[in-house]
Amino acid sequence: MPRPPFYNPTADQLQRTASCSERIRQEILRHGGSMGFDRYMQLALHDPAVGYYHGDHAVIGKEGDFVTVPETSDHLAYCLAHACAGLIRDNPGHSILEIGAGTGQLALDMIRYLLAWEQLPRKYCIHETSETMRSAQRMRFESQAPEIIPVVEWLPEMPAELDCAIVIANEVLDALPVKCFAVDPCQLQERCVTTTGDGKLDWCLQAPCSELDTALESLMASLPEPLAGPYCSEICLVLENVLANWSGCCRQCVMFLIDYGYPCSEYYHPQRSMGTLRSYLKHQVSSNPFDFPGLQDITVDVDFSSLARAAGRQAIQVLSFGSLRNFMLANGLLDWRPSGKDPAACAAETARLKQLTLGSALGERFQVMVLGKEADYEADRFTMRDMRARL
Ligand SMILES: C[S@@+](CC[C@H](N)C(=O)[O-])C[C@H]1O[C@@H](n2cnc3c(N)ncnc32)[C@H](O)[C@@H]1O
Repeated sequence: MPRPPFYNPTADQLQRTASCSERIRQEILRHGGSMGFDRYMQLALHDPAVGYYHGDHAVIGKEGDFVTVPETSDHLAYCLAHACAGLIRDNPGHSILEIGAGTGQLALDMIRYLLAWEQLPRKYCIHETSETMRSAQRMRFESQAPEIIPVVEWLPEMPAELDCAIVIANEVLDALPVKCFAVDPCQLQERCVTTTGDGKLDWCLQAPCSELDTALESLMASLPEPLAGPYCSEICLVLENVLANWSGCCRQCVMFLIDYGYPCSEYYHPQRSMGTLRSYLKHQVSSNPFDFPGLQDITVDVDFSSLARAAGRQAIQVLSFGSLRNFMLANGLLDWRPSGKDPAACAAETARLKQLTLGSALGERFQVMVLGKEADYEADRFTMRDMRARL
């Protein structure tokens, strides 16, 4: 197994990645020598026994593999709390349902703001599939803000009925399993996963399965020009099921979906010929998703046009779409102040805010799509610049 010089796994970690690889290899062998990349991603990230999000290694933060926006400062929490407070003021029956809460930092900061503004939701539910993450969240709340624990309800499964909810998913869609495909000058092929003679995992090319074939046909029809090979990319086929699941527990909901990504025409731009699939290990990015299965994060950008179409098929409306920067500016950012008393920490927080807002790539790389089920709001409630026309 290749071992980049920056990474020295412990014996336990080596054991874990070996178990994860073996689990995947066995399934490949049982199924005639290959598996779709979506199945590989599901096992490598989300398998309860060997998946990345279920291990006891640090995932998010300085000691982990990557940092999310809520870990760097509470300005996203402030702006999301601002948007939620407005909805709760209109209807105090709202619950908040956060999907995939990671370390729990976003929940913690949002609840603190909502408490201070006396706009707590009926319930703050966290739907988190990883038991490890659920206990990390609880530990963070116990050590930093025990007073908020009674407000939070953890849900390994989706709740049965919330009636009226605000659903929040920050950097969760980018971890959903995707199919990978390649275009060469004359044909479209599915990039699957196989094992090599020496037992390693590697890519192999196959005729696309029928579900991918149908999806690619409609993708190609929607692009301004056909994709010319050599070109490879990825496509998420589970968006509709995921939206149905997240919105299924409520009669009415507003969803804030925040992630890195693009509208379809940029996602599948001819120049993005290597796709967006990448892995993170100790803050180093790699294009090889097979390096350390179960120990490294695997992620892709989100195709927001496809997300909007999936919402439409579920009778969910796109209420607004735009950059994170423009979402935050429409939701109180100019009133945000660093919360710490230490001047150096305040200066660092302000610097991070500038990174997100002042013409840097970061605030534009992250998008916020607001969806509404049985909920109708004007786009300017959620963004300074609505970009739905680009979807
Ligand atoms: C990249 S982390 C983002 C964490 C957090 N939202 C943040 O911004 O810091 C992804 C989180 O989503 C969880 N997750 C991934 N897929 C999920 C799903 N389908 N349902 C619920 N949680 C999921 C993971 O366990 C992890 O906690």
